[in-house]
Amino acid sequence: MISFTGVTKVYPKGVSALTDVTLKIKKGDFVFLVGPSGAGKSTFVRLLLREERPTEGRIVVDGVDTAQLRPVDIPFFRRKIGMVFQDFRLLPERTVAENVAFALRVLEVPRREILRRVPQVLHLVGLSHKSRAKPAELSGGEQQRVAVARALVNNPPILLADEPTGNLDPETSWEIMSLLSEINQRGTTVVVATHAREIVDRMRRRVIALENGRVVRDEEKGAYGCEA
Ligand SMILES: Nc1ncnc2c1ncn2[C@@H]1O[C@H](COP(=O)(O)OP(=O)(O)OP(=O)(O)O)[C@@H](O)[C@H]1O
Ligand SMILES: [Mg+2]
Repeated sequence: MISFTGVTKVYPKGVSALTDVTLKIKKGDFVFLVGPSGAGKSTFVRLLLREERPTEGRIVVDGVDTAQLRPVDIPFFRRKIGMVFQDFRLLPERTVAENVAFALRVLEVPRREILRRVPQVLHLVGLSHKSRAKPAELSGGEQQRVAVARALVNNPPILLADEPTGNLDPETSWEIMSLLSEINQRGTTVVVATHAREIVDRMRRRVIALENGRVVRDEEKGAYGCEA
């Protein structure tokens, strides 16, 4: 589903954020991407989304070699990846249902289809009863559930999250990670960049650890590791 081959990313001012990263993530995998601040996790995420291009190496996502993408192909390519951010990024003036529907409206999905899919995905994240609320009326965990619903409503093969629990308390963080795990069990490939050490240790999923831009560990049923 995702393959990085010899990927190096050097930012313009000369920081090497990733160095010679080679890894494969199979369809249906659940992967934690861990490592200290500055290790290159968000760079990995931005390369996957094709927000950045690698300095060297090859990235293939769901059969697409990202180097071959023309600018006009990029929005279509990004539909393969549902994205969840640390800060939720909801539209404050819109209701929960409208926030989720908006993701489909920009894709010009027919109205009838939108009316069918939005309640389904809100049900999946356990927020059917909040569909008319505005984001400010929700807890942080509920807002992140809306963001997960929005990421999933177009049924992408990959769900990608960068520090999805960074603004949440431990219990709510656990709920969000459990939701991502449930989504994975329904067949979506899930990649989560995180600092949530206790959750990573308890979930026993694949852990890819980065340090100074290099993969230093890649374990099935792994743990966060010893570094802070
Ligand atoms: N746009 C940029 N221009 C120049 N350097 C950058 C840019 N973005 C990131 N870097 C550098 O690349 C390295 C990796 O950064 P990255 O954001 O990928 O780390 P991270 O693992 O996500 O860290 P954190 O846990 O703090 O989010 C860091 O040294 C950072 O300063
Ligand atoms: Mg980051």
